[in-house]
Amino acid sequence: MDQHAMDRYIKSMIKEAGHRIRNSFLSDISVDTKAHANDLVTNVDKEVEKFFIEHIRKDFPGHRVFGEEGFGDKIEELSGTVWMLDPIDGTMNFVHQRRNFAISLGIYEDGIGKLGYIYDVVNDDLYHAVAGGGAYYNDERLPMLTDTDISESIIGMNSMWATPNRHVEHEATIRLVHEARGMRSYGSAALELAYLASGRLDAYISMRLSPWDIAGGMVMAKEVGAVASNFSGEAANLLKSDTFIAANPSIHGKLLQDYIKPKPKS
Ligand code: IPD
Ligand code: CA
Ligand code: CA
Repeated sequence: MDQHAMDRYIKSMIKEAGHRIRNSFLSDISVDTKAHANDLVTNVDKEVEKFFIEHIRKDFPGHRVFGEEGFGDKIEELSGTVWMLDPIDGTMNFVHQRRNFAISLGIYEDGIGKLGYIYDVVNDDLYHAVAGGGAYYNDERLPMLTDTDISESIIGMNSMWATPNRHVEHEATIRLVHEARGMRSYGSAALELAYLASGRLDAYISMRLSPWDIAGGMVMAKEVGAVASNFSGEAANLLKSDTFIAANPSIHGKLLQDYIKPKPKS
């Protein structure tokens, strides 16, 4: 299947999955916890992941799937084609708000991002990107990001990091809160990356994200010139959880140098 046909195939699968998620609002959703009390998962997360995997296994038998809920493959390296899927990114929002969550999907070939999709299910807004072919908000091409400064930037970050914590020096985060134009926290890494790509945020910073949270958004961010890395400035981790920052290229370095002060791991 060529890239255009694959893009059409993926979009129709994502729209169908979105339809199923919206329909799930009509029946009871069962909520469970995973690593801790606020790490939620529902029957819908699992059903949507299974829905994608069934289709991928049938139509792309040679491809592998790295899915959050564990129904895909065990991925320890990124050779060949790997679909990185978060069936619902922002499950807490899905459960409590019935909005502000997304389906996130990135298609990687030998570790290189080729296609990226973030679907804001409730608003029926699809962000997508084709490596070398641009990023889009529905069918509208997103322009390259233009230079900005911290004082004119809106930064996506959890407010927790401006309180004493074991990850970063919170005084430096407080300085960022004072010096940036505004701070936002939407509760879905994928949506925050889509907002970065569409210029609604100038940076998105997280202490810990997994490959499926960032895979789709990374393809999108790159197409508009945003820079992504971990807090050490190394390539974002697509195999395991790590710190993450994606930003307008004119402030990425400044954020790492002046405002994000990781504490030594104890
Ligand atoms: C979470 C969301 C959230 C981020 C967490 C993720 P999930 O994903 O993206 O914004 O802060 O680190 O785990 O669990 O809702 O798919
Ligand atoms: Ca997620
Ligand atoms: Ca998820």
